Amino acid sequence: MLSGRPEHRGPPELFYNDQEARKYTCNSRMIEIQMQMASRAIELLNLPEGQPSFILDVGCGSGLSGEALTEEGHYWAGIDISESMLNIAVEREVEGDLFLSDMGNGMFFKPGTFDGVISVSALQWLCNADKKSHNPAKRLYQFFSTLFASMIRGARAVFQFYPENPAQMELITGQALRAGFAGGVVVDYPNSTKAKKYFLCLFCGEAGAMPKGLGTEEEEEARNTVQYTDARRRHTRKGKERVPMKSRQWILEKKERRRRQGRGETRPDTKYTGRKRRPIF
Ligand SMILES: C[S@@+](CC[C@H](N)C(=O)[O-])C[C@H]1O[C@@H](n2cnc3c(N)ncnc32)[C@H](O)[C@@H]1O
Repeated sequence: MLSGRPEHRGPPELFYNDQEARKYTCNSRMIEIQMQMASRAIELLNLPEGQPSFILDVGCGSGLSGEALTEEGHYWAGIDISESMLNIAVEREVEGDLFLSDMGNGMFFKPGTFDGVISVSALQWLCNADKKSHNPAKRLYQFFSTLFASMIRGARAVFQFYPENPAQMELITGQALRAGFAGGVVVDYPNSTKAKKYFLCLFCGEAGAMPKGLGTEEEEEARNTVQYTDARRRHTRKGKERVPMKSRQWILEKKERRRRQGRGETRPDTKYTGRKRRPIF
């Protein structure tokens, strides 16, 4: 019986042929899911607010994850092994610079090029040996070590991926740490079979606090007394209702984002949060 996992069906450059690449990119459910996961990966990058960054999208495919970067106002470059996927990205006139390349052969960018790296649904492909010459552990190490060099110090790399089993998760994390990164895996909605998602969050140089997974008890605690609604979980995407700057709602959202991004200590929310102060004189 054929496995349900695409990476078991053949090498990525053959699996994502013209027909599959088109089918993938035209599927509205797929578009929604990939964009959502890309937005969450961008959130976990913890980029400076209000200024564009230069981001690498590894396994960018037809540019769905890259579009989330464009929507957030960032510049990006993408690499992918499938020519068919990249052709569709060109056809769709995505904003990023595209490179046809196998991540297992390593990155070829100048040192310190990227302010951050995202990758959505691609990393697990590296755990397969599609050729006799392929050694997954070596390819992972080659990838992570060259990626590390291409990032600025203090930047993060966030990979949403589908580990097949705990051994695979250990292999991936182990090779990333060997290559010089700090960090680990953040799991969103760990108790939901459908919504559960794995994000490998890597720190280049300075290790920060690990972000909290969504839908976990830790996150629940961090949110403290904040009333939680779906509207406040939405990312800065088109169609988001804007809340007035410096309003109580704006401050609560900002603090919640900081907690989710794992940015150090954030003061607890109280009834005084966002309250206007009287002038001193
Ligand atoms: C499920 S698609 C995701 C594409 C895109 N990130 C998105 O969110 O729509 C996985 C992509 O990873 C790419 N990929 C798999 N193995 C790769 C490798 N060794 N090097 C570069 N890209 C690879 C595939 O070609 C495919 O385009």
